[in-house]
Amino acid sequence: MRSLAYLNKFFFKYRWRLGVGILFVTISNFFGIVPAQLIRNALDQSEQMISYYHLLTGFEFAKQFRNELSFNLILFVALILLMALLKGFFMFLMRQTIIVVSRYIEFDLKNEIYDHYQKLDYTFYSGNRTGDLMNRISEDVSRVRMYVGPALMYTVNLIVMFVLIIGAMLRVNPMLTFFALLPLPLLSVIIYIVQEIINKKSERVQAKLSDLSTHVQESLSGIRVIKSFVREPENLNRFSVLSDSYKARSLELVRVNSLFVPTLLLLIGLSTIFTIYIGGLYVIDGTLTIGNIAEFIIYINMLMWPVASLGWVVSLVQRAAASQSRINEFLETKPEIVSGSLFPEPFKGRVEFIGVSYTYPHSGIEAVKDLNFTIQPGESLAITGKTGSGKSTIAALLVRQVDPTEGKVLIDGIDLKQLDLHKYREVLGYVPQDTFLFSDTIYNNIAFGRSVAGDVGITSKQVTEAADYASIHNNIEKFPAKYQTRVGERGITLSGGQKQRICIARALVRDPSVLIFDDCLSAVDTETEDRILRNLNIVMKNKSVLIIGHRISSVMNAHKIIVLHQGAVAESGDHNSLLAEGGMYANLFKIQAMSNLRSGGQSDYL
Ligand SMILES: Nc1ncnc2c1ncn2[C@@H]1O[C@H](COP(=O)(O)OP(=O)(O)OP(=O)(O)O)[C@@H](O)[C@H]1O
Ligand SMILES: [Mg+2]
Repeated sequence: MRSLAYLNKFFFKYRWRLGVGILFVTISNFFGIVPAQLIRNALDQSEQMISYYHLLTGFEFAKQFRNELSFNLILFVALILLMALLKGFFMFLMRQTIIVVSRYIEFDLKNEIYDHYQKLDYTFYSGNRTGDLMNRISEDVSRVRMYVGPALMYTVNLIVMFVLIIGAMLRVNPMLTFFALLPLPLLSVIIYIVQEIINKKSERVQAKLSDLSTHVQESLSGIRVIKSFVREPENLNRFSVLSDSYKARSLELVRVNSLFVPTLLLLIGLSTIFTIYIGGLYVIDGTLTIGNIAEFIIYINMLMWPVASLGWVVSLVQRAAASQSRINEFLETKPEIVSGSLFPEPFKGRVEFIGVSYTYPHSGIEAVKDLNFTIQPGESLAITGKTGSGKSTIAALLVRQVDPTEGKVLIDGIDLKQLDLHKYREVLGYVPQDTFLFSDTIYNNIAFGRSVAGDVGITSKQVTEAADYASIHNNIEKFPAKYQTRVGERGITLSGGQKQRICIARALVRDPSVLIFDDCLSAVDTETEDRILRNLNIVMKNKSVLIIGHRISSVMNAHKIIVLHQGAVAESGDHNSLLAEGGMYANLFKIQAMSNLRSGGQSDYL
């Protein structure tokens, strides 16, 4: 329960609205119980007047007396109607305040969580599943909202109603009050138990539903693979199995749910029977009137919902507490990558790795070992090596997605850890290995590289220029909608090479001082690759470039080449010196040149 204390700051923020809301609850309840008293009066008065009326039969003014009696009744009806209207009006205001506050708090909490998500680093995201992260901001927050809204409102409502109604009941007759209220605690306990069962069952239903939707989502995104491997029947089978177990769980839930209302009615019925029987005895004794019994029955019916909601509220609060503690745990996670405050003016872009090693915390794999190299402004460094040799890890270290386990990375002589991260990343142009595009137009995807909070400071000329350098401009011009073509989710409507080149344009449009290409030419033919690399010589003049690639053609023209093997530098030098060395690089060169010849393609290397 302590986890919910976190929300107190929000209650404080909206204290005035909440205070007014509580006032409305009280007023609305007041108008709720007045009709019960009006009905008692109406009944008692009518009973008396009707007995007088019988005495008057045969007299002149009997008819007039009768008219007065019906007028009196109509007056009561009008008053009761008015009370109901007033109660409804204040109930509306109560929801407008308390429930609206709960929505505000939900909004604040979601923003806080989202903001925190953006602060957390790469390591956090490697260790958490997207589904869980989504749940925290949707499912967990809605459960917490049930506590700040409905649970709070019903609790206040319950307290106010209890004080008002039981006060009124005790004034009439304490003994009858005792018997009428006897079944109510039992009602609360039963509702709580039933609610707990319902919660457990609906959690199971939820889990089954999430299995089902995961399956559907995965099969839809992998539909091409499923079709080409003719796996539709198995896929449908799996869907039916999941769907069946979802149905079974749902039916279980329905069965418990259907017990709920009958139980409620049974206990209310018991209360009513007690009231009528014991109240009847008092009426015979002459200590109570028939109107009192009617009044009591109305009170009991009014108490029914709040008492029933007590069990419900307790379980709401428990669920909210569990959700809030999950949220707190996550909000307390501190990002490991914290920005420094230094920044070199002017920024030159000299990159230096000094004895850098890095071990991934989740897998314990030492991805790079004791790296030492420098990239001077105006220089390009290429890194090649087998898959898994640690190339992308070097890029991750350079953009400071991760910090070195040992050694340090210096930028213009300053330790990267002390650099103002925001400013530093502004001068970086990074093309990651897994091309990611947003489901937006091509134009916006490229402009994303430059636009600061919207579209400030970017012209369409800059976008087309960047696209031209990335050798994709002509391609885009051939699309029917040109730059306004939408790329679909993650860029699904584009070919691999087109996606890579748009990502390159997105990095180039920033006019970066340090450019990082992580294997982003792998899906581009060698001719286009050559054109892009030559363009780089123009745009990246006097700037630092790091190119990662598998193909010799991607790396051969760089000023310096490093061959990585199991995280360590195996060879380094320029193209010619590495060929002369006759090691891994020369070997790779031979293999790639041969395979090019065999496939009948023109060799770029021979
Ligand atoms: N997020 C991660 N968590 C744990 N281990 C990782 C992670 N990313 C990479 N590794 C491991 O670190 C090693 C180096 O990976 P890296 O991605 O740097 O290789 P790479 O040279 O870029 O390979 P490729 O050419 O296939 O892109 C691999 O053994 C890999 O399994
Ligand atoms: Mg890689």
